[in-house]
Amino acid sequence: MIRTVPTTPFTDQKPGTSGLRKKVTVFQQPNYAENFIQSVFDVVDDKAGATLVIGGDGRYHNREVIQVAVRMAAANGFGTVIVGQGGILSTPAASNIIRQYGAIGGLILSASHNPGGPTEDFGIKYNIANGGPAPETVTDAIQARTLDIDRWLTVEAEDIDLNVIGERRVGDMTVRVIDPVADYAALMETLFDFDAIRAAIAGGFTMAFDSMGAVTGPYAREILENRLGFAAGTVRNGEPLEDFGGHHPDPNLVHAHELYELMMSPDAPDFGAASDGDGDRNLIIGRGVYVTPSDSLAMLAANAALAPAYRDGLKGIARSMPTSAAADRVAEALGIPMFETPTGWKFFGNLLDAGRVTICGEESAGTGSDHVREKDGLWAVLLWLNILAVKRQPVMELAREHWARFGRNYYARHDYEGVATEAADGLMAQLRASLPGLPGRAVGPLTVQAADDFTYIDPVDGSTSARQGVRILFEGGSRIVFRLSGTGTSGATLRVYLERYEAVGGDLLAETPDMLVDLIAAADSLAGIRAHTGREKPDVVT
Ligand code: G1P
Ligand code: ZN
Repeated sequence: MIRTVPTTPFTDQKPGTSGLRKKVTVFQQPNYAENFIQSVFDVVDDKAGATLVIGGDGRYHNREVIQVAVRMAAANGFGTVIVGQGGILSTPAASNIIRQYGAIGGLILSASHNPGGPTEDFGIKYNIANGGPAPETVTDAIQARTLDIDRWLTVEAEDIDLNVIGERRVGDMTVRVIDPVADYAALMETLFDFDAIRAAIAGGFTMAFDSMGAVTGPYAREILENRLGFAAGTVRNGEPLEDFGGHHPDPNLVHAHELYELMMSPDAPDFGAASDGDGDRNLIIGRGVYVTPSDSLAMLAANAALAPAYRDGLKGIARSMPTSAAADRVAEALGIPMFETPTGWKFFGNLLDAGRVTICGEESAGTGSDHVREKDGLWAVLLWLNILAVKRQPVMELAREHWARFGRNYYARHDYEGVATEAADGLMAQLRASLPGLPGRAVGPLTVQAADDFTYIDPVDGSTSARQGVRILFEGGSRIVFRLSGTGTSGATLRVYLERYEAVGGDLLAETPDMLVDLIAAADSLAGIRAHTGREKPDVVT
């Protein structure tokens, strides 16, 4: 019944910021996906009879890998596999299913906001029993296993019909195909004041939600249109497509520009939002005002107590290091702890499990809470809706009041994509080497106060993660962070994070690019971006 297939290692299966991401063509090589999945299974203890969740964002190659993974799970002794109908589970929904059904873990098949299609990207990520991405100890063990793997296990079985809800058998294992939306929608109803949102809608409140041809379509339709009562058509691009309609399903001002233009137009609804390929990111735009993800985290934290789930207050807030310090000021005002972690959601897991934080966020449009162990796009949208419905206030007014109270962290991220790996490595190496000499140095009108390469010591388990990004802090609270992306599939992406703090009483309603001019110049002069990359300007500014 169980078939052992001999194989040889691939040397490029090191998981990045969020799982293993490669071109579809790489995953289509014989044994490639199988090797990685078997390596995951080989490091999971106690899998005999256990439940495994398999989620996917519906992108090209999703169904094929699900069928392979189901047979391999049966051969590896799992008792049950839970999979979403059509092979679909948004990443936050998968996290919820893992927790709710007491699964030992889950395979999440996604390359998030990266494009999909035969020549585009695919990915596999392993999440552990808390529903969150495997921590580095586990991903390191998986990678080590990929380097000495010599066989993978499968059973002879037909493909299962992923379109039909119900139970089937594959080998000795049960496969449950479930409604991907129901449990998630029910969870959202427990967290938020749906009645208050319904009352606001009845009073004329309108919104536009762009699913970007990706996984959140069915979730957003069910929650926003069916349960809350927003007008039909509120959810745009709501059909999950294998290639996301040829677009980049990344909810930022570049890729969701149609939504942005709508929100800046005279016909704008009250509220605009979008989510990414696998449903964990969010974009928030009020009528006439874009809310940066860093500001969104701060504003959500400041007002979270208006939602039933957070009525008793927040235990703490965590943000990734490159995320602006806007939330820090909220934590200070609330008298709760603030944690600064490396980039990537996996670093929030321990803090959430230990009950030390309630809300977390990243500048890359990720926000979430202790309700699951992934960032959650629709959750952020619903918390915003809950807050706006209770406050009966436009986003613009809420944002202005927030800045008037806490000051404003002007913020932008500049991405240089597809840079030659040696050029990017050279830039980072030179920057790192320059760090000891930077404090006290004047760069244009700015003076460097401190500079380091961020090292994180996990306050829960004491583990250390070094080289997590170069930080250059200036007198007055401005900052530049440099790091290389860990999610790309070709070449290197240099990310430059620029932040300038304007205190209460300062210029709080200026245009962001105007406020960052000196920092942009300083970034080039400190890192030699042009010299190393040959680029005059970034490819993407968010
Ligand atoms: C990017 C984001 C990071 C996020 C990750 C997964 O990683 O910057 O915040 O957690 O995607 O969505 P990067 O490509 O920068 O390594
Ligand atoms: Zn994502």
